[in-house]
Amino acid sequence: MTGAEPTKATPEWLALLAAFDAAYGQAADAGSAPIADHTARLRQALARVQAGPPRLSPRPAADKPVTRWLPAALAAATRGPFADMAMALLAVADRLTWEYGYASLPEALARDYAYCEILGPQGPILADDLILGLVLFAPGTHYPPHHHKGIEESYLALSGRWSQNHAASHAPGSLVFNPPATEHEITTGSAGPCLLAYGWLGDPRRLAAPGMVLS
Ligand SMILES: [Fe+2]
Repeated sequence: MTGAEPTKATPEWLALLAAFDAAYGQAADAGSAPIADHTARLRQALARVQAGPPRLSPRPAADKPVTRWLPAALAAATRGPFADMAMALLAVADRLTWEYGYASLPEALARDYAYCEILGPQGPILADDLILGLVLFAPGTHYPPHHHKGIEESYLALSGRWSQNHAASHAPGSLVFNPPATEHEITTGSAGPCLLAYGWLGDPRRLAAPGMVLS
């Protein structure tokens, strides 16, 4: 928290929220009732923020070693199915706060992984029952098994190839849904970085302190 009073969200951030909504709308129709239910509730929570109007509590920008891959990941994403989100992200790329979320993590993961939040209890855009963010992986990364108690999660693939739980090879445009407490691990392809957008829905107390632990 910056301690400063939140201000009205600026057009770049509003455009990014609209891009998240459009991407979820585009990816949602897969004939699966649980996925449709998750995305509908996520978009309703986002619509409440958008109607707010959205409040902005800027955080200091922060890089992590993996953000050396961000320009390549965004460039690839601008040629992919979620190009509009990639363009919206380019407008705020120098203001993102990249972090790890774990008290301790393996050296390789510290080099090859980080996430940033776009919307949530910490900001930069404020919400208490929804978190939207991005996770970035270097080529050839293994993100070990983990789960999120009381939080349902979805990933939208912006660029790169990846797998979850060794179950499928996902391409840009895909949506993967993880019900609360589902154990999941991710591997990413060697040809380039992998950029995923994600959404978390959960109880505000849980979202304010998710307590992420690698299994
Ligand atoms: Fe996760």
